[in-house]
Amino acid sequence: MIAAYGERDDLKFRRAAQAIIQEEEAKRHTVLARELRTVLAANGGIGSNDAPPMPDLPTDRDSSLPLARVSQADRYLGDLVLAEDTRDALERVVNEVRHWPTLDRAGLPRRNRILLSGPPGCGKTSAAAAIAHELSRPLVTARVEGLISSYLGETAANLANLFAFVSTGAYVLFLDEFDSLGKMREDTSDHGELRRVVNAVLQQIDAYSGPSLIIAATNHSHVLDSALWRRFDSVVELGLPTEGQVTELLTRRLLGNGLEHVASFVPHLAGLPHAATEFFADSAKRHALLEDRTQIKAADIEFAANEVTSRPWS
Ligand SMILES: Nc1ncnc2c1ncn2[C@@H]1O[C@H](COP(=O)(O)OP(=O)(O)OP(=O)(O)O)[C@@H](O)[C@H]1O
Ligand SMILES: [Mg+2]
Repeated sequence: MIAAYGERDDLKFRRAAQAIIQEEEAKRHTVLARELRTVLAANGGIGSNDAPPMPDLPTDRDSSLPLARVSQADRYLGDLVLAEDTRDALERVVNEVRHWPTLDRAGLPRRNRILLSGPPGCGKTSAAAAIAHELSRPLVTARVEGLISSYLGETAANLANLFAFVSTGAYVLFLDEFDSLGKMREDTSDHGELRRVVNAVLQQIDAYSGPSLIIAATNHSHVLDSALWRRFDSVVELGLPTEGQVTELLTRRLLGNGLEHVASFVPHLAGLPHAATEFFADSAKRHALLEDRTQIKAADIEFAANEVTSRPWS
């Protein structure tokens, strides 16, 4: 390890550190091993940006499926079209996570549990991905329902494994479809079994104090009762776009091409999620290209408008 430090070889250094941690674990020096893990996870490295070797993703014992998937996001917050206060709130999250060491030194609690709330297609997944990218952290996405094993007893193990995974490094853990917990709490058909499972999820979230940021997403804020809401340090609303935001999205997506034809559709698109405007712009571009044109005409826009209105968006 000392040789690796001398050579400024981050990967070698981390491998040596992990070998020491495993040795301590084998000797059942669990407290020391946990402390070393935390120190290793909290440090960016010795001069290089190489990520530490990633442990294997935990799987559901019943289905053998991974409990989460890890991705590297490729978009920034600046790529999203957002209301100003929403952008401010998301930027504040990023800025706070960057300053966690400062908050720690001042004895102030970290705010590491964020809830994104809003209708489908208005940017919850995109915002979580952008936050992960801004922080240069891998995004670990888990569907809450996927954590609930068909054997309820396995669920607690799944949760513990997932939270142990995000304690091994600095990730953004994205808990998608968080509202499914709210629905489960309402379920009264099973003598309180599901309620116990829900409480287990909440306890894991409450107890988490590792290096990762937890972001949950919900489409249906009304099914979340106060016991669920109060787990979160901040709640950010991602609502339907305004006409101004639709115009901004179209301008970015069409790069000015055919914009003169879109004005009359903007009010309609403003009642639909951002995903509909994205679909609209791509549909118009595709229609033009398939007729061997690069210039978007009124007929392409009309075709796209029909396509958007002929499908459900919520
Ligand atoms: N604010 C936004 N700015 C730009 N594009 C957006 C925005 N919101 C959504 N989109 C686009 O719409 C599509 C759907 O967005 P996303 O998956 O983030 O929505 P979601 O809220 O997670 O939806 P769901 O509830 O269905 O999971 C994406 O392709 C994304 O590019
Ligand atoms: Mg989503």
